[in-house]
Amino acid sequence: MSPPVSGAGAATGWQNPLRDKLDKRLPRIAGPCAVVIFGVTGDLATKKLMPAIYDLANRGLLPPTFSLVGFARRDWTDADFGDIVLKAVQAHARTPFRQEVWDRLNEGIRFVKGAFDEDAAFARLAETLAKLDAERGTGGNHAFYLSIPPKAFPTVCEQLSTSGLTRPDGDRWSRVVIEKPFGHDLESAKSLNQVVNSVFPESSVFRIDHYLGKETVQNILALRFANQLFDPIWNAHYVDHVQITMAEDIGLGGRAGYYDGVGAARDVIQNHLIQLLALTAMEEPVNFSPAELQAEKIKVLSATRLAEPLQENTSRGQYTAGWQGGQKVVGLLEEDGFSSTSTTETFAAITLEVDTRRWAGVPFYLRTGKRLGRRVTEIALVFKRAPHLPFDATMTDELGKNALVIRVQPDEGITLRFGSKVPGHAMEVRDVNMDFSYGSAFAEESPEAYERLILDVLLGEPSLFPVNQEVELSWQILDPALEHWASHGKPDPYEAGGWGPQSAFEMLQRTGREWRRP
Ligand code: BG6
Repeated sequence: MSPPVSGAGAATGWQNPLRDKLDKRLPRIAGPCAVVIFGVTGDLATKKLMPAIYDLANRGLLPPTFSLVGFARRDWTDADFGDIVLKAVQAHARTPFRQEVWDRLNEGIRFVKGAFDEDAAFARLAETLAKLDAERGTGGNHAFYLSIPPKAFPTVCEQLSTSGLTRPDGDRWSRVVIEKPFGHDLESAKSLNQVVNSVFPESSVFRIDHYLGKETVQNILALRFANQLFDPIWNAHYVDHVQITMAEDIGLGGRAGYYDGVGAARDVIQNHLIQLLALTAMEEPVNFSPAELQAEKIKVLSATRLAEPLQENTSRGQYTAGWQGGQKVVGLLEEDGFSSTSTTETFAAITLEVDTRRWAGVPFYLRTGKRLGRRVTEIALVFKRAPHLPFDATMTDELGKNALVIRVQPDEGITLRFGSKVPGHAMEVRDVNMDFSYGSAFAEESPEAYERLILDVLLGEPSLFPVNQEVELSWQILDPALEHWASHGKPDPYEAGGWGPQSAFEMLQRTGREWRRP
């Protein structure tokens, strides 16, 4: 019997395996919907959100009726806002500019002028969305992207609720996308979550941690759970410690409004780095459904705590003037907008313990900072030394510890570091690297994290978004360090272009370990 032509499968029950495979590999296309961005004049909207929307349209992943609505206080017409989006796209989109794609996207661009506390503005927003539903066929499906300061979340959520935009009828959906920071400690995160959940059910809340949208971060799960090779050694029997580094070379000029008073630990450790720890340390989920994945992350985060005493197991710093990329740069206290007495840390490092059978006794060192030696994010599993070395000590002088390094960015890939005999008459062992690089292994370029995440919001696919409980657990882990620092004066100085304050080096030296120089 010859198989039916593709498409006839549903009637006969026959599945075309090739087609099935293809369907699973191709990204799904979003259904009819509109995205409303609050905070369209901000940096994030300009550099990431609007370009990502264009890139999705360019990849054919948005429906033809897709609409984008900007909400801000500016006195703009739809066309003015269209020009703003176009400039952002031309400056920051990942994919090439195509006029026909832009023209189609532009047809669905609208602007609503208003302030967050202005009832009439939200009535206008509801009207604009109803019109788009009727005229363009956006289907009553709306995503509200809050790219705004967290203090404005409660007002905007209440306004959306009062205007009837949060609980749509039937199978229409209304989702809210929230950018970090989700609070500044556990208590404020809880009250923020309460406000948001009083208006949107948790299943409609999408909290963005853009690190989870990165290919290299999703690959941690593939590396760990699709292979036989790594799992047997992914535990305290073989791993000496884990280092998670997110270093940036940029300074904070121009970002005082957001950063002063927030600091490196709240900006990066509470979200990105603790999420990387969760993916590295969690147990294998029974499947990859969002609920199972979240359950494992929650389990491991519940077992994670700061190592004591905090004085020895944490470090924070603030950059001073120095040289970077051949240029003289100023210290934080001289940056525009920062108070000359600011105690905001621009570098933070903490030691975490994961109290599970798999990880007991293995410290997880997390560090992040601005104005460091270079931009790099990596997760390094540093292994114990071989229990016995049948060589003269001089032969292994240059042998370090084996390491598996997940290179999150840039130069995405994985490095395996191990000892190898140096060619020649003598038995001399030295560290070498074996590299996998995305650039040479795959032809296609990775999409931007925001493309993946925005598409997932529109598809209602929640796997890559931390839930309420994960956010609260992350604050619970970090809070004691924040409190400790708050009562211990100023951060330690470090020179721009270096690798952080002396206290960070000492944090590892105390146990005979050292930070990797990425
Ligand atoms: C953001 C932080 O979440 O991540 C910024 O607020 C930081 O301070 C940025 O610069 C880094 O993102 P990426 O993707 O360039 O590592």
